[in-house]
Amino acid sequence: MATTALPTLAIDSSQHNLDSLHRAICSAAQKPLAEARALPAAAFTDPSHFAWEREHILRRQWLSVAHVSQLQYTGDFVNLELLGERISVVNSGDGGIKVLSRVCAHRGMDVMPPEFGHQEQGNCTQYRCPYHHWVYGLDGNVKGAPFMKEHPEIAEKSLRLHEFTSAVWQGFVLVNFSGDAAPVTTLFAGLDSYLQRWRMEELTMVADIGWDCPFNWKVLVENFMEPYHHAGAHHTLFQPIMPAQGCWTDAEGEHFQVCHLPLSEALQQKVKQGEPQLLSFLPMPGLLQSDFLEWTVYLAAPATLLFVAADRVYWYRLQPLAADRMHIRTTMLVHPDSVAADNYPQVLAEEIELMRAFHLEDMEMCSAVQSGLTSATYRPGPLNALEQPLWLFQRYLARQIEQHSLARSEVARE
Ligand code: FES
Ligand SMILES: [Fe+2]
Repeated sequence: MATTALPTLAIDSSQHNLDSLHRAICSAAQKPLAEARALPAAAFTDPSHFAWEREHILRRQWLSVAHVSQLQYTGDFVNLELLGERISVVNSGDGGIKVLSRVCAHRGMDVMPPEFGHQEQGNCTQYRCPYHHWVYGLDGNVKGAPFMKEHPEIAEKSLRLHEFTSAVWQGFVLVNFSGDAAPVTTLFAGLDSYLQRWRMEELTMVADIGWDCPFNWKVLVENFMEPYHHAGAHHTLFQPIMPAQGCWTDAEGEHFQVCHLPLSEALQQKVKQGEPQLLSFLPMPGLLQSDFLEWTVYLAAPATLLFVAADRVYWYRLQPLAADRMHIRTTMLVHPDSVAADNYPQVLAEEIELMRAFHLEDMEMCSAVQSGLTSATYRPGPLNALEQPLWLFQRYLARQIEQHSLARSEVARE
């Protein structure tokens, strides 16, 4: 019997799938916490959703790229690739800290390509593009170009490396690629009362480890923020000292989250008797006694993660690369006076070992979760109340989706 080909449906199926995923995220986010469930797998695996997040969340919000202790002197730089942009975070001297694109204004070469042996961090007096040796100052303005002195754009120095919008917040340099995000001081104002006693702008970075991660960036955000897994993944490292069942999350912040990890009852008793616990480095000056009773995790959305104790701050720098891949750096910051202690080298080595150990436990979990998310048998399971940060993050994502749809329908009306 003769058959005829089915007519092609006149819809863009990837857009259709994306819209239905976004509806699923928004409807998950509307449930009360007691009914909350994990997100559909596609939220972590679908390349078109990752492309959407990249454009409409990650590039439109503030992302942390460096700590000021890495940029103390004029010419100090930190280079990285973030969301497809090769950037240089630089102390430009009088101009302050800038985030410059490394794309040459001549023909697009990276002015400091890692492929040519340029380090990720160091000090420079200027940028010289390896291709035709155009030279740029630390402010990004072109200073010269071989045999083109007379060219008006060189003579007038009107060409430059693009400067992205940046801000320094709590000692961290944040970039906003779209240039139109609300000010960090507004978005994260609610975190100031928690963080200001640490004076993070005065801390020094003593550990910085890079990791290639075979999982979605949100898998890490969720893992970082929820303490439920202390009872599982960290049952030897964290559960005895910060038991999952004592942890709690603060009320919703529109652009941030705070989750408290109190020390065990026994450790808290000792702190209250004047014996501070779990201090390997000098505690930050000016903390309250209550600051010694817990460790705390923070999310400055979408992806700035801080894990804060009385004597240290862990900062994770995230570089999402694809739906199922990212690079991160796990760093540790301490008060600079700690470095002068006699036993500092040994203490530091032990603490770096601890940082590696607990992060390796998280890496194993996150990698296996990503693998599970690609299985046909995956179904979003119910969340425990200790996973409130996941529910809050779903609500954050839903707000971003709704704002985008609103903007899209306004454009359609015009
Ligand atoms: S591309 Fe940079 S100088 Fe030509
Ligand atoms: Fe963890």
